[in-house]
Amino acid sequence: MTVAELQRESPLQNPLEEGLRVRRKPDPCSLVIFGASGDLAHRKLMPALYALAFRNLLPERFAVVGVARSEASDAGYAEDMRKAVQEHARDEFREDVWERLAAGMRYVATDFADEAGFDRLAAVLNDLDGAQGIGGNRLCYLAVPPVAFPTIVDALGRRRSPDGWTRLIVEKPFGNDLESARELNTMLSEQFHEDEIFRIDHYLGKETVQNMLALRFANGIFEPIWNRQFIDHVQITVAESMGIEGRAGYYESSGAIRDIFQNHLLQLLALTAMEPPIDFTAESVRNEKVKVLRALHTPGPKSVVRGQYGRGHVEGEEVPAYREEHGVAPDSMTDTYVAAKLFVDNWRWADTPFYVRMGKRLARRETTIAIQFKRAPHPPFEETSAEGLRPNVLLVHVQPDEGVSLEIGAKVPGQGMTIRSVHMDFHYGGTFRTGMPEAYERLILDCMIGDQTLFTRADEIEEQWLLVDAIVAAWKRDKPSFPNYAAESWGPPSGHDLLRRDGRAWRSH
Ligand code: NDP
Ligand code: BG6
Repeated sequence: MTVAELQRESPLQNPLEEGLRVRRKPDPCSLVIFGASGDLAHRKLMPALYALAFRNLLPERFAVVGVARSEASDAGYAEDMRKAVQEHARDEFREDVWERLAAGMRYVATDFADEAGFDRLAAVLNDLDGAQGIGGNRLCYLAVPPVAFPTIVDALGRRRSPDGWTRLIVEKPFGNDLESARELNTMLSEQFHEDEIFRIDHYLGKETVQNMLALRFANGIFEPIWNRQFIDHVQITVAESMGIEGRAGYYESSGAIRDIFQNHLLQLLALTAMEPPIDFTAESVRNEKVKVLRALHTPGPKSVVRGQYGRGHVEGEEVPAYREEHGVAPDSMTDTYVAAKLFVDNWRWADTPFYVRMGKRLARRETTIAIQFKRAPHPPFEETSAEGLRPNVLLVHVQPDEGVSLEIGAKVPGQGMTIRSVHMDFHYGGTFRTGMPEAYERLILDCMIGDQTLFTRADEIEEQWLLVDAIVAAWKRDKPSFPNYAAESWGPPSGHDLLRRDGRAWRSH
């Protein structure tokens, strides 16, 4: 599409500012959403497809086929999806955009255990190939509970279209430990090649997470000081103020360690610590990330702290303790908070702690990566307040208030030489007029294009589990007294002690 065509056809004020010119249009394809009646499909996937349609980023020849157990007609499914878009999309609802998207919408009601359902699905896809010239390309999204993965993967593998490509998007959780993740990888590899498997970690689709790569590798000033010589330590926080939002069934067997640490947090750490890739291809980027994951370790059980929230107040309302949430065992030992000190054993990072923490019902929603540099060795000023001597910190605000800020010491105007910490800020909102895309928009489009850079490779997943398994094994030896932090606090005292022992503290809030 030419720039003129893009400007003419897009309902956006300024489509070029949304970075549309740099991406090629994907091949024609059918997107099959397994789990089409579920929460993820309603809240994230369909709104993301609408956002892509809104920006003319979908292929010209494109169809969505929903598959789930609930009975519905094609028209009923499309109506349900229209409501989902009206409720959750980030753009205004435009009838013309919706009509274009809904035109290719089909629905197949079946239990995944029913082979005949897959035959009906194959027939629908073949019809669409013929009617719309889709050419046999299929993108299959597994938005279903993991127990359903093997049945679907096997059925799809046996019914591959002889024409075009077939790709598989696999949602989290990807296994529950190293063994189950390996089994899942083996099962997938029996039917699909690694370059056809897209394991989603939606944090990698966030603009600010990708900006970590831009910050590090598109600027000459950071890399020379991005190492143990200049950096004192790194802090990564993934804090949520919400609780488990009715997901006890899943969360009881997951906890913060599997829900956030194993995937989102370790990916943030890998992007922060990785070596510069030789190019921005999927293999180069993932080769560097996996090296970090392989080099990662905790010095011992005392370096990992877990917590579980008790009652507290959120915006003036009392909220229940984790053990009082619907579906949670009254003596549950599930972790809703984890903090850890990690080391990356390589030349760049040896002896540089990476302190990480994540939790539900913490005081505020905040995901940040803070790179704390070493103190100035000898500030030559006499009249310097202690505050002014604070070390420099580069703060990547992943969310909310997306941006980057650098904390520096500056002279307070007036007589004398009083130094105070100030921030040099870059805010996405103030700099770019475009809104922030949802992670799923970027990720679905990447799958259509066949770009795996922002997806987790099999070996990365296995390295992530190796570390989690070691931590969970150590936890079996003790039984902390839960709950150990109040909702809307910053976690248990032991989480603060982790840094205090090293003469450091979590960044203040
Ligand atoms: P839901 O329980 O809301 O939806 C599950 C979907 O799978 C429904 O459409 C359901 O159909 C369908 N389904 C389940 N079993 C069968 C079966 N045997 N035959 C046919 N259809 C079946 O789950 P979510 O949408 O919340 O999550 C889906 C996946 O995405 C999970 O793996 C989850 O961990 C992951 N995920 C979800 C997130 C979210 O925000 N929701 C975030 C990150 C990951 P029906 O209802 O018609 O029976
Ligand atoms: C999901 C977790 O992967 O990420 C949820 O399962 C968590 O528990 C969510 O709330 C956080 O995502 P985001 O994009 O809101 O930070």
